[in-house]
Amino acid sequence: MAEEEKFEPNIIAFTCNWCSYAGADLAGTSRIQYAPNMRLIRVMCSGRVEPTFMIEALQNGADGVCILGCHFGDCHYISGNYETKRRMDLMKDLFKDLGLDENRLMIEWVSASEGERFAQVVNDFTDKIRELGPLPEEYQQKLKLLKGAIEGSRLRIVLGSTKRAFEEGEIEEERYVQAMHDIAKEEIERMKIMEAVDKNKSMTVPEISEATGIDKLRLWRHILSLTQKLVLETAGEKDNYMIYQRRD
Ligand code: FES
Repeated sequence: MAEEEKFEPNIIAFTCNWCSYAGADLAGTSRIQYAPNMRLIRVMCSGRVEPTFMIEALQNGADGVCILGCHFGDCHYISGNYETKRRMDLMKDLFKDLGLDENRLMIEWVSASEGERFAQVVNDFTDKIRELGPLPEEYQQKLKLLKGAIEGSRLRIVLGSTKRAFEEGEIEEERYVQAMHDIAKEEIERMKIMEAVDKNKSMTVPEISEATGIDKLRLWRHILSLTQKLVLETAGEKDNYMIYQRRD
């Protein structure tokens, strides 16, 4: 039998205590058969699942990650699952940007009375991950980059204040979501820039652009900000361009 045919995925499922975890319980007590590949981690609300939890699961052996929460309108904490959905959309978007397969992430809603549905969701996602195969080794470097960007204090501060503005009705949901996506992407770009500069010790803007794939116009904005924040400094000139290096 070929190696691929033997592959059985490891899947981590974060399940809300009040609905999907109870749905799993119902599937079990009803003796409904489903794929055994999913390890359940019970959380009090799907909104408890930080994006870093998903990344860490993939960094530590999972081939796919899913979040199972209450249906819209049923969240015990009112809006937890709406925030979860926004975060999952953001993660999938960032996955696509980084060239990672966003189908390794899934979000679904399963109530306490939906044992059959729980089993179906588990089976469908397991089939999908089985089809995708084991998590490729080259994902690890990009997951590290993504985690660094998400954990960075700049992103947390800006997202925190944007979220507060949304919750207090100062900005529309559309603007809040757009801000989440824009800021996260910017942060990933900065991580890419610093990774390239650290690797090469010092670089010009065209060199950084070539190494990161970020267009020069966007790059200039980042370089300006990074030099103002004293993260980068100039280190001479080459081919009529300033050379940048990390500031000690
Ligand atoms: S309590 Fe279940 S998703 Fe919030």
